[in-house]
Amino acid sequence: MPSKKEIRIGLIGTGFMGRTHSNGYNRVPNFFPDLMHTPVLKTVCSRNAEKVQAFADQWGYESIETDWRAVIARDDIDAVDICTPNDSHAEIAIAAAKAGKMILCEKPLARTVTEAQQMADAVEKAGVANTVWYNYRRIPAVTLAKQLITSGKLGRIFHYRANFLQDWTISADVPQGGTGTWRMDVDAAGSGVTGDLLAHCIDTAMWLNGAITDVSAVTETFVKERMHALTGKVQPVGIDDACIFHCHFQNGSLGLFESTRYARGHKALYTFEINGEHASIRWDLHDLNRLEYFDHRDEGIVRGWRSIHVTDGDQPYMDKWWVPGLGIGYEHSFIHQAADFFKSLDTGEPCRPTFRDALETQKVCEAVLESATSRRWQDTGVEEFAGFNQELV
Ligand SMILES: NC(=O)c1ccc[n+]([C@@H]2O[C@H](COP(=O)([O-])OP(=O)(O)OC[C@H]3O[C@@H](n4cnc5c(N)ncnc54)[C@H](O)[C@@H]3O)[C@@H](O)[C@H]2O)c1
Repeated sequence: MPSKKEIRIGLIGTGFMGRTHSNGYNRVPNFFPDLMHTPVLKTVCSRNAEKVQAFADQWGYESIETDWRAVIARDDIDAVDICTPNDSHAEIAIAAAKAGKMILCEKPLARTVTEAQQMADAVEKAGVANTVWYNYRRIPAVTLAKQLITSGKLGRIFHYRANFLQDWTISADVPQGGTGTWRMDVDAAGSGVTGDLLAHCIDTAMWLNGAITDVSAVTETFVKERMHALTGKVQPVGIDDACIFHCHFQNGSLGLFESTRYARGHKALYTFEINGEHASIRWDLHDLNRLEYFDHRDEGIVRGWRSIHVTDGDQPYMDKWWVPGLGIGYEHSFIHQAADFFKSLDTGEPCRPTFRDALETQKVCEAVLESATSRRWQDTGVEEFAGFNQELV
């Protein structure tokens, strides 16, 4: 058997995503043994030496760095994985591309379209492999939704509806900025729920249903001032706490999206429903192994919503896991994306969403925020979504 090519990873950022990605790299060789490229956890970086050493010991990294520039300067790093807050994505990615590194970047790609455009241009100019961790595409039930739509089972699509609801910022005492609450600081995050949560919904939606062409949005910031964790000063809040928008898709269907961090009782309720001429599907992150499906062509007396437990070996990714009937979890979406990245190196095909695809999502996010400010419909500038027609696993 030919030997595998090692891809030496330099991970930057050791928080929530640093853990999910490290788990992904560690699991890929066990569960995707046929891949010809395989990860080596070469180095991990965050700014506190003691903490990053503890992380390296826990997850199996060979070495540590405390400055991301040192990761990029190393000759023994092939791929840089960016798991830092949004304000550093552009600087790190552009430097990594110039150094010829492959790049896996967390979402949203950047804070603005301008940054995202520079990043997409940089990876394409350098000709380096790249992907953005819009991981929900790789939950098997969501991938199955893509297969059902591509196979034409739904027929013409009329409606796409998505929500992403949380409740963790209702207290006015939650600070903005700093460790753990950088999402509340517009300078670090770029936006609030639009870039953080709706970006996921938009990526999934354009992958399943094609380009979003124009949007009309409303946003609200319920708590107008919060203390900044770094300065100790009470400052105006610049992020959107909640956002609702409706839109047209390029295929003529209508979309309705809502996200908030003020939906008491909901922690991470990402749901979508798609209504087509013949059939509908819906999915709920809190019950992620199931896809609900209604087919009007079923015989009348048994027609109704069916709940498909997406755990069988002929359903997406599930031949890699246990036996039919046994579910998998949130973390597997990252294992799948890591595996698909290495598979893309085997095949030479892009690992979607690429930076270019994520730039399109960024354009929709920015149009949403512009529409909320102008109180007018806003064109997104997205005419086609490249990943919409992609070949599936
Ligand atoms: N795909 C998803 O579902 C998902 C979920 C959560 C977060 N994210 C994205 O992942 C990114 C990180 O989010 P998180 O929740 O892991 O954040 P986090 O606050 O948990 O972790 C951020 C990490 O980055 C480190 N860091 C910050 N600035 C740095 C710098 N200049 N150099 C080196 N390290 C630095 C911090 O020390 C920390 O270890 C964000 O872009 C976020 O939007 C994606």
